[in-house]
Amino acid sequence: MKSVNVGLAGLGTVGSGTFNILTRNATEIERRVGRSIHISQIGARRDNPACDTSQHQVTRDIFDVAKNPDVDILVELIGGTSVAKELVLSAIENGKHVVTANKALIAEHGNEIFSAAASKGVNVLYEAAVAGGIPIIKALREGLAANRIEWIAGIINGTGNFILTEMQEKGREFSDVLSEAQDLGYAEADPTFDVEGIDAAHKLTIIASIAFGIPLQFDAVFTEGISKITPADIEYADQLGYRIKHLGLTRRSAGGIELRVHPTLIPKNRLIANVNGVMNAVLVKGDAVGPTLYYGAGAGDEATGSAVVADIVDLARILGCAQDHNVPALGFVKTENTPILSVDLIYTCYYLRIEVQERPGVLAEITKILSEQNISIEAVLQKEVHQEGRLIPIIILTHRVLEKDMNDAISKIQALDEVEQEITRIRLEHLDAG
Ligand code: HSE
Repeated sequence: MKSVNVGLAGLGTVGSGTFNILTRNATEIERRVGRSIHISQIGARRDNPACDTSQHQVTRDIFDVAKNPDVDILVELIGGTSVAKELVLSAIENGKHVVTANKALIAEHGNEIFSAAASKGVNVLYEAAVAGGIPIIKALREGLAANRIEWIAGIINGTGNFILTEMQEKGREFSDVLSEAQDLGYAEADPTFDVEGIDAAHKLTIIASIAFGIPLQFDAVFTEGISKITPADIEYADQLGYRIKHLGLTRRSAGGIELRVHPTLIPKNRLIANVNGVMNAVLVKGDAVGPTLYYGAGAGDEATGSAVVADIVDLARILGCAQDHNVPALGFVKTENTPILSVDLIYTCYYLRIEVQERPGVLAEITKILSEQNISIEAVLQKEVHQEGRLIPIIILTHRVLEKDMNDAISKIQALDEVEQEITRIRLEHLDAG
């Protein structure tokens, strides 16, 4: 049987992982597919010493790959959104199937790309775009297809998780750990994408679309990063029985779909609270199956390459079949325009750290404001401070509260004379099976 011809565009970290898996496991992959997978062309601006490409045709112009009539599947691994979008659209225009690991491209331009692919009768697969080697796209689009998905919570940025874990376990400062994450090669080219939650928002956008059958809406994600989390918050959360994780959360609520990325306190006894270092995990609650958890490496050359190659294998198996026999790009043939809920309208529990001057009655004033806003307190921790003139931290955990009410309460507490520093607010989710 004729081999399937792949064109690789990009030979960086994920490109080299993909090349090496396809080369090393060629026989095993051929046994799975029933035909061989041949890398017929590589488009890369420079060589990568991690790959021996001497037996392959290499071009410095990646657009050659998109136009090459021998190529059946273009694998886009160059990253970014402008050239990558042009490249993918050019491959589609030339009748090629596409595999990409590019979360920003799919989250921001996926609707347009999928529509172009549908009109040309080709497929665009993107398993590697979310949570690296974890097959979460396949789990949601296929394995859980019987379910009405209720909510998903994921640790979907390895760099952010590495930083929080180091702060938790070693008490290290944020900036110090970030530079180590950069040196280790986990972070995005622009590390603000990791620490400010943009990378996680890209991934959450994709997850939410395939979970609920809605169009990709990156601009609607509420995004808050981890740069304001201090070792003290991690320590206080620990004393109260919680870990702080940077979560992507999407939930089907009465008024619409919640779509949010932010640091979150989670009870320590949840499995996902114990996912540490650069590892990723995605917790999915379906109405039939209940909670399921997917764990693994969210980044890295061969971990991400594993997902890219799995997509190539899927395409190789269906090459030549009519497109309407394939899994729909976003998992649903009919998408719905369910509204995305404004963050003001979500309900969540809260951790507050309020630094106050030592004055009689200040705690009473704070609790009075909270009760006037209908906010019920679950726990209070007041730390003693032995240094004259130092502010005293008051830690408050609340029950579930409407975000808008919490905003009002925080503005009023912030206006008290005794409150000098900006109040730290971190959302808290129990993530129980109910
Ligand atoms: N910078 C990303 C992370 C890489 O840290 O998770 C994988 O998308």
